[in-house]
Amino acid sequence: MRAPIRVTVTGAAGNIGYALLFRLASGFCYGEDQPVILQLLEITPAMKALEGTVMELVDGAFPLVAGIEISDDPRKAFEGANQGFLVGAMPRRAGMQRADLIKANGPIFVGQGNAINSVAAPDIQILVVGNPCNTNALICRHAAPDVPADRFHAMTRLDQNRGKGQLALKTGVTTDKVENLVIWGNHSPTMFPDFLHATIDGKPATQAVGDDAWLEGDFFTTVTKRGSAIIAARGASSAASAASAALDHMKTLWRGTAPGEWSSMGIMSDGSYGVPEGLIYSFPVTCTGRRASIVQGIEHGEWAQAKIAASADELVSERAAVADLLG
Ligand code: NAD
Ligand code: LMR
Repeated sequence: MRAPIRVTVTGAAGNIGYALLFRLASGFCYGEDQPVILQLLEITPAMKALEGTVMELVDGAFPLVAGIEISDDPRKAFEGANQGFLVGAMPRRAGMQRADLIKANGPIFVGQGNAINSVAAPDIQILVVGNPCNTNALICRHAAPDVPADRFHAMTRLDQNRGKGQLALKTGVTTDKVENLVIWGNHSPTMFPDFLHATIDGKPATQAVGDDAWLEGDFFTTVTKRGSAIIAARGASSAASAASAALDHMKTLWRGTAPGEWSSMGIMSDGSYGVPEGLIYSFPVTCTGRRASIVQGIEHGEWAQAKIAASADELVSERAAVADLLG
């Protein structure tokens, strides 16, 4: 057994938190030889509910859980943290866009970023799930100027998983046969689910599907608008699939990608593919040594290039809308 790592989960009494904590405790993310100390953050009115979740975690008798700490103070919850899942934030309701949440949720990530800057472990890595996650990750990064910028990620793995699920359904295969379907841009309807470089059972996805109109039409719409469709159907935003994707993201970062495997992560742009530097933008990445690197040299025609640029433009506008939170 290794020494325990400290994993902070914010919004731990919420819907995603409930779906996330038990799989985290079971070793799905960091492996069955890696104990974890769970440091759970909530707002004061939700502390009672959080105590109930902790009772259930104890009742799960997970051998890898080396401790559980709860707090309504970010400085306590991030003390010595090695990994952070930043989930706690308001979800949208029917009729809202994720960007409508910026004013309510943005300030949360200033306070938490400040706490991360002061008290987290030197190897801290952060995944922002709370929406709008790309811009919230940017706010968090700016509030933690002493932490390297590459430690702040936003989650588009759910969109990647959604795309894989749709391609698998369409072609009658299991999702492990769908590779390198990646998401470019913002976790919003402007994202670009890039099927042009995906393969299905080793063949180009375009060939395996054999229906470009479906790929550019129904497939695209289903993936980019899935969040709204789930809210319309459930009356609440996605929770179990979001928790699963968050664990997938951190597992990929922790354990690395397989040779030839691409994943999608919202990370700080270095100017690759014409995306302005300093935005938190989802790129195709490979991971090694617990770091994500943007896959270079992917070629696109004008249609795809326009989509990559449009999502960057939207993130530039979101950044301008939160300029007062960027310190
Ligand atoms: P929820 O309302 O069920 O839970 C959110 C929890 O966060 C609540 O328990 C609340 O008390 C807590 N919280 C609020 N402010 C907090 C703060 N300052 N510090 C700590 N905790 C705080 O919502 P949910 O369904 O769990 O969704 C959480 C967020 O995740 C939402 O913003 C939602 O839009 C987002 N989300 C993102 C993705 C993605 O793909 N990036 C997917 C699904 C949901
Ligand atoms: C999702 O994609 O399901 C989440 O971002 C929730 C939402 O508001 O769409």
